[in-house]
Amino acid sequence: MNTHSPYFPSMLLFFITLLQVAAFEEGDRAALQAFKSMISHDPQGILNSWNDSRHFCEWEGITCALRGSLSPYIGNLSFLREINLENNTIQGEIPREFGRLLRLEALFLSNNSLAGKIPANLSYCSRLTVLALPYNKLVGRIPFEFVSLYKLKRLALHRNSLTGGIPPFLGNLSSLELLSLGANSFGGNIPDSLGQLKELEALGIGGNNLSGTIPHSIYNLSFVEIFSVPQNQLHGSLPTSLGLTFSNLKHFQIDQNFFSGSIPISLSNASKLEVFQIGKNNFSGKLSVNFGSMKNLSFLNLFSSNLGSGESDEMGFMNSLANCSKLRVLRLGGNQFRGALPHSIANLSNQLQILALGDNQLYGSIP
Ligand SMILES: *[C@@H]1O[C@H](CO)[C@@H](O)[C@H](O)[C@H]1NC(C)=O
Ligand SMILES: *[C@@H]1O[C@H](CO)[C@@H](O)[C@H](O)[C@H]1NC(C)=O
Ligand SMILES: *[C@@H]1O[C@H](CO)[C@@H](O)[C@H](O)[C@H]1NC(C)=O
Ligand SMILES: *[C@@H]1O[C@H](CO)[C@@H](O)[C@H](O)[C@H]1NC(C)=O
Ligand SMILES: *[C@@H]1O[C@H](CO)[C@@H](O)[C@H](O)[C@H]1NC(C)=O
Ligand SMILES: *[C@@H]1O[C@H](CO)[C@@H](O)[C@H](O)[C@H]1NC(C)=O
Ligand SMILES: *[C@@H]1O[C@H](CO)[C@@H](O)[C@H](O)[C@H]1NC(C)=O
Ligand SMILES: *[C@@H]1O[C@H](CO)[C@@H](O)[C@H](O)[C@H]1NC(C)=O
Ligand SMILES: *[C@@H]1O[C@H](CO)[C@@H](O)[C@H](O)[C@H]1NC(C)=O
Ligand SMILES: *[C@@H]1O[C@H](CO)[C@@H](O)[C@H](O)[C@H]1NC(C)=O
Ligand SMILES: *[C@@H]1O[C@H](CO)[C@@H](O)[C@H](O)[C@H]1NC(C)=O
Ligand SMILES: *[C@@H]1O[C@H](CO)[C@@H](O)[C@H](O)[C@H]1NC(C)=O
Repeated sequence: MNTHSPYFPSMLLFFITLLQVAAFEEGDRAALQAFKSMISHDPQGILNSWNDSRHFCEWEGITCALRGSLSPYIGNLSFLREINLENNTIQGEIPREFGRLLRLEALFLSNNSLAGKIPANLSYCSRLTVLALPYNKLVGRIPFEFVSLYKLKRLALHRNSLTGGIPPFLGNLSSLELLSLGANSFGGNIPDSLGQLKELEALGIGGNNLSGTIPHSIYNLSFVEIFSVPQNQLHGSLPTSLGLTFSNLKHFQIDQNFFSGSIPISLSNASKLEVFQIGKNNFSGKLSVNFGSMKNLSFLNLFSSNLGSGESDEMGFMNSLANCSKLRVLRLGGNQFRGALPHSIANLSNQLQILALGDNQLYGSIP
């Protein structure tokens, strides 16, 4: 095979961080050798170990350096179970030939410069449990054919330029534990069907110009640890039982939307909470959450969320923050909190890096 193949620029640097071999056949060796022969520049001589003196099963864990595009020949590596090409500068499109890798269980192409559409042919990789394509330049829709990837546990497509709405069929991928679609341009509403994803632990759909409300069935998903929907145009109120149904909640990020109503007192029960970020919304009333059980709370941002009732004990919630010894950021500015600053402010975490109280109607002294 000639080393000036159109598939690879002649000064190619190659990077394969993980090749897990599931089955060992002579055809697989040939495919690997063909793959090797496509690589014209191997400055560290790493591919020398891909030689006949060792069984090719011992060629695993190859680490070189790679730039260029993905060859359709990758479709010949049919024995691969896992491909990890993260953190390179691979350009061009994802070859449709990936659809021939019928044993593939995990595909990591994160953080490259891949462009074009996500090939529908990936849906033939029916053993996929992980599909991670974030931090690329992918466009178009999530292919409808992916509805057949019923083993998928982790689907990460954040930081691309995907469009066409969050497809309702994702609710049929009942093994999903992580759905990360943030920082794209999906638009549209959040489909009700996502409430069927009983195994879901992490939902990330921020920064997508989404409108409408959060389907209430989603708040019933008890395994959810990360709920991240910031920077959209979502509205509606939070359910009063939020802290009871989301009993495993660690990250709650809904900032920069149009949410309204009061903050549910039941959040006091979400003792695993670490990040609570609700700034720039249109809430109202007194904040009556007791944060005392949240030993790992590190980030509390209520900035400009329209909270405050004028009741005399309205800063009482700050007493409970004294228990949050890992608190690093506390932003309460730009609300309608009115009243005396409680003395308990002196008991806040010694890890505190940012304390922002401005633009309220607080008085008293800072101890
Ligand atoms: C084949 O690979 C082995 C293992 O890396 C190496 O020790 C040996 O020198 C290589 N042989 C040739 C001919 O390159
Ligand atoms: C390898 O893949 C290429 C491109 O997809 C194809 O043309 C070729 O027939 C394949 N070779 C073998 C030995 O399967
Ligand atoms: C890619 O980079 C990220 C961030 O630096 C790192 O966490 C990850 O382990 C890297 N992946 C590989 C395969 O090296
Ligand atoms: C992407 O890869 C580059 C180079 O390996 C690394 O410096 C950067 O941290 C990675 N970014 C992400 C988001 O993983
Ligand atoms: C798409 O995947 C199917 C099923 O594995 C395969 O037969 C076909 O060759 C693939 N298409 C391309 C262009 O490789
Ligand atoms: C999704 O699942 C429902 C049943 O739960 C089924 O009626 C529907 O046809 C499925 N949708 C697709 C696109 O397969
Ligand atoms: C956001 O969505 C609205 C419709 O809800 C649309 O009119 C607007 O153009 C979208 N904005 C962007 C930046 O995509
Ligand atoms: C949430 O779960 C409760 C108790 O199982 C049930 O009564 C309620 O109908 C569910 N709500 C939604 C919107 O699914
Ligand atoms: C929730 O927290 C409140 C106040 O902290 C407490 O009275 C109540 O018993 C808790 N409920 C559950 C179900 O843990
Ligand atoms: C706080 O974090 C530690 C370490 O991750 C964990 O062991 C502990 O269970 C957490 N505490 C709560 C209340 O979630
Ligand atoms: C904020 O909520 C109030 C009611 O509490 C409502 O009158 C107002 O229109 C809302 N503003 C926005 C920007 O949603
Ligand atoms: C603070 O934590 C202690 C146990 O570490 C607990 O007894 C107390 O009730 C907590 N305070 C608040 C205000 O929840």
